[in-house]
Amino acid sequence: MEIGIDDQREIDSKLNEQIRVKIRSNLVSAEQAAHRTADRTERRILALILGGVIVGAFSVYFITRSVVRPIDQLVSATDRVNRGDPVQRVDIRSGDEFEILASHFNQMVAERERLDKMKSDFMFMVTHELNSPIAVAAGAVDLLKGTIDAPNEKQAKYLGMIHRSAARLQHLTADLVDLMKLEGGRFSLRPQLTDIHEPVRSACQSLAPTAEERGIRLQYPSVDAAPGIVLNIDSDRMEQVITNLVRNAIRFAASKVEVRVVDEERECLIWVEDDGPGVDENDLPKLFDKFYRGKQMPDQNKSGSGLGLSIVKGIVESHGGTVQATDRGGRPGANFVVRLPKHG
Ligand SMILES: Nc1ncnc2c1ncn2[C@@H]1O[C@H](COP(=O)(O)OP(=O)(O)OP(=O)(O)O)[C@@H](O)[C@H]1O
Ligand SMILES: [Mg+2]
Repeated sequence: MEIGIDDQREIDSKLNEQIRVKIRSNLVSAEQAAHRTADRTERRILALILGGVIVGAFSVYFITRSVVRPIDQLVSATDRVNRGDPVQRVDIRSGDEFEILASHFNQMVAERERLDKMKSDFMFMVTHELNSPIAVAAGAVDLLKGTIDAPNEKQAKYLGMIHRSAARLQHLTADLVDLMKLEGGRFSLRPQLTDIHEPVRSACQSLAPTAEERGIRLQYPSVDAAPGIVLNIDSDRMEQVITNLVRNAIRFAASKVEVRVVDEERECLIWVEDDGPGVDENDLPKLFDKFYRGKQMPDQNKSGSGLGLSIVKGIVESHGGTVQATDRGGRPGANFVVRLPKHG
């Protein structure tokens, strides 16, 4: 059978059409395959970047932690040393320079503690040794006064000077011994069940002549008015606390000092109030530090050594109590309150 030209053309055109369809479909598949490959590659690259970022972040975190933590430990231990707090040893076991640094720091702290102890032992021994000759000198001056019938003006003046200086030295050495006992853990109490009014009254009665001399009215609970509040306290030490607070109050008061005892459910409060110039706000945080002396009365040259309130704090705290200088709610003067726990 013979194929005509028209048939031939039709066959060619169909073939061409089939070839075009095939090529197009191949092209589409190739394009889709290329897209898929590109998508896969993109996802892999993204996953790689994300993985890198996470690994990087963890590495930075761990490296920073291993460097910053020991530095933090050392910085806070150094702060505690500077504040004079008791320092525990720094425990760093990193096996690197930080561990060496921590071990040097611990040696330094141990050495400092050894020297501090040596210093306080030495001071304790010296003040203790000074106590007896000063007491002898003070007693001897009193005896000497008695042997001179009518001392002339100069003799009386010099005897007075020696007497006052010896009394001041006696007071100072006694305070220093107490302070060192409190700081060095050598302080011991002899607590007994006592009515708190006893040491309060005893301290006030001893200071009544001083108050009178200054023209200050000293008020304290009278025997009849005050109901008994029995506490387990060292009466002599509590008297020392009240004496220190009332002596300060008399020194600063304008006209009156009031001592009150307040019975509360769990605590017994002892208030010592005066109507003097009060305590400066700037002095408040340091008031109970040893040797801290704030504002002084201009007309009094014989001011103290700044040990009284630190001893008060030490004694009150060793009874489980607290002492504070408080606001007088706008009224002039100073207000000190001792809080003692009532056991049982
Ligand atoms: N009632 C008060 N009114 C105003 N300021 C006071 C009062 N009591 C204490 N202060 C201030 O607190 C400071 C510290 O008192 P603290 O009793 O410790 O020492 P001192 O009285 O100066 O000396 P010391 O008690 O050793 O003889 C005083 O120097 C004073 O500035
Ligand atoms: Mg004082």
